Amino acid sequence: MWFGMVTLFPELVASVMSWGVVARASEQNLLSVEAINPRQFTQDKHATVDAKPYGGSPGMLMQPGPLAAAIADSRQRATAALGPAASDVPVIYLSPQGRSLDQGLVQELSTKAGLILLCGRYEGVDERLVREAVDIEVSVGDYVVSGGELPALTLVDAVARCLPGVLGNRASIECESHLDGLLDYPQYTRPEIYGGVRVPKVLVSGDHGAIERWQAEQALLRTWLRRPDLLAHRTLSTQERAWLTAALTLHEEKGHEGEQHEENVND
Ligand SMILES: C[S@@+](CC[C@H](N)C(=O)[O-])C[C@H]1O[C@@H](n2cnc3c(N)ncnc32)[C@H](O)[C@@H]1O
Repeated sequence: MWFGMVTLFPELVASVMSWGVVARASEQNLLSVEAINPRQFTQDKHATVDAKPYGGSPGMLMQPGPLAAAIADSRQRATAALGPAASDVPVIYLSPQGRSLDQGLVQELSTKAGLILLCGRYEGVDERLVREAVDIEVSVGDYVVSGGELPALTLVDAVARCLPGVLGNRASIECESHLDGLLDYPQYTRPEIYGGVRVPKVLVSGDHGAIERWQAEQALLRTWLRRPDLLAHRTLSTQERAWLTAALTLHEEKGHEGEQHEENVND
């Protein structure tokens, strides 16, 4: 998959892209990211990309001209990388005013051949550029950060994880939080006893059926307790409803205020 990032900070993009899962994916040619700096498309000696907003609002705005030229350049690069498939590469403006990024949107975007990601700075970008050149505005949450680079890199990382071959173990994405509209179940690793607390017995029982059922129940319980809004958007199967009821009954019987599943070895 090809990504073009329109950014005033190409070094920031290069630095994040040189670590971890995305770096490995890039080495394996599963994805590539090109940064395009709008300053390259300015005409004055100071390479100016911003100006004061009309109407006297505070701060500065990114001007439409250099951004439009940078997006056109990105489109050409997309064509060079992808051929005719570049016509289906949307321009995404990372913006706190956009549609919330969730796993559904991440998966939808992962089916594209490429994405052009427009990273704002200052107080954002001229509205005419957004109307003329942007297909989707995407927000990483209801808060404001200083620039679109970290939101864009978050999007690239999340999309990369959905691409075939990027994660060594495909199963690791299949049971992650949000994939199935649920949060992940609690997980444990060695040592078996830590701080006087033993991992749940079922996980060391060797009974794979019981382990799967426990994991399913815990994912449902955790989602119910922490993010009931997710369950409101998901239809539970008869089996899942039974598991949730069982998990809730046990949870209430044990009088847990939180979600403790482990055993204290001193009990
Ligand atoms: C300081 S913000 C501008 C915020 C803008 N004045 C507003 O209130 O909507 C600068 C840039 O950071 C990026 N940004 C900030 N918060 C974001 C968020 N929650 N999601 C995606 N991008 C964000 C956008 O690209 C934005 O143009």
